[in-house]
Amino acid sequence: MSETGKIKEPTIGQWLAQDSRKASDAFARRTEFDMGTDDLPTERFTSREFHDLEMKHMWPRVWQMACHEMDIPEVGDYITYEIGSRSFVIVRVQEDEIKAYPNACLHRGMQLVDDQGHAAAFACRFHGWTWNLDGSLRRITERWDFPQTQGKKMCLPDVKVGRWGGFVFINPDPDAGSFEDFIGELPEHFRTAPLEDRRIALHVARIMPANWKVAMEAFLESYHVSPTHPQSVTVSEYAETQYDIYGDNVSRLATVSVAPATASTKALSPQEFADYASRGTGREPIQLAEGETYREALAQQRRDMVAKVQGKPIDHLSDVEMLDAIEYYLFPNFLPWHGFGLPIVYRFRPNGDRHDSSIMEVYLLAPRDLSQPAPKASPLEWLPDDRPFAEHAGLDRLGPIFDQDYENIVGVWKGLHSTYSPGLVLGHYQEARIRHYHKRIDDFINA
Ligand code: FES
Ligand SMILES: [Fe+2]
Repeated sequence: MSETGKIKEPTIGQWLAQDSRKASDAFARRTEFDMGTDDLPTERFTSREFHDLEMKHMWPRVWQMACHEMDIPEVGDYITYEIGSRSFVIVRVQEDEIKAYPNACLHRGMQLVDDQGHAAAFACRFHGWTWNLDGSLRRITERWDFPQTQGKKMCLPDVKVGRWGGFVFINPDPDAGSFEDFIGELPEHFRTAPLEDRRIALHVARIMPANWKVAMEAFLESYHVSPTHPQSVTVSEYAETQYDIYGDNVSRLATVSVAPATASTKALSPQEFADYASRGTGREPIQLAEGETYREALAQQRRDMVAKVQGKPIDHLSDVEMLDAIEYYLFPNFLPWHGFGLPIVYRFRPNGDRHDSSIMEVYLLAPRDLSQPAPKASPLEWLPDDRPFAEHAGLDRLGPIFDQDYENIVGVWKGLHSTYSPGLVLGHYQEARIRHYHKRIDDFINA
């Protein structure tokens, strides 16, 4: 038992030290931080006023993921992105140029496009004003009646665009700082396992009956694993998870999730553990060679599988990167997982302008044939509110896990309206990422 206040030593560093490969310095770097122990006021989640502050000060000024590049693979493909009551259109203007505009006509403000589609130009349905894909004006219907537009370009206003990992980000603020500064060292962490090399194999969304932060915070720590996901405890060193904070906008958790983690699994021989860990996964148990561990064998099996699909080897990636649960976070709502342990990305945001309802999205990223152009992303599927995640076959073993997390989200949202407690009591270390991003929200609100 650790003494209070002393961090329980994370195990990821020990596994990296004995790994069959060396991870990059950026990936291996452990950070030290102290985010304090203050309680987090409950009204940050429950109050309409706090939501309004976020909508006024944060969402209009922050870099946020708007879509995946392969949602719009062809020139002329567009997709809308909605945050609060605002809508933006993201469009591929040239093979390697993506632009974004407010989704509004410059005449009387009609929304220009819905959902997603393909167009040669944006023609407003109300009176037919039309813009080229690059935002330049093509036509004002009966322009003789608009003398005030003479000599004016009347372009659609550019919204700032940033790109990373195959994802497209926008910042609604024309004066925003650069996207590269905002994401900091995140690209360096993913340099050896680029998300650009994947395809979007599944993209699902579901309405969550809670504030967006409550939904997201169900996924920001491994502290909940034992009570919430008891099926995981025998193979997950969840209690020795490492948490890192990299600058203002990036954090990470790293849980060794393929390892004998209890007395009963530690007592197993390597082959017995291999058989045990394969149960219920639908995979054939691996027959270990003399002296081989299950981690080594499973990591190599995954390297071989990915290399076969990609047509390019990934011999450089460590066992940790092939196996474990390494979840990054980019403020305010984008969570890309690293490597091949859990190849997923989450995004959380308010459902429209509601403080009591949010949208959770899950992308599953699969390896792709790198000799071919990236394929179009799997289209977004909305999961029904009244159906468990487990009913979606594509989510496989993640479905039942998300259902367990979902119950927490529903329960927290109810409990936050019943509690007599003015604040949430967060762990100093294991829940520091939650404090960290709340401080960033305050930075925006107080700027
Ligand atoms: S509102 Fe768009 S053309 Fe009139
Ligand atoms: Fe969970």
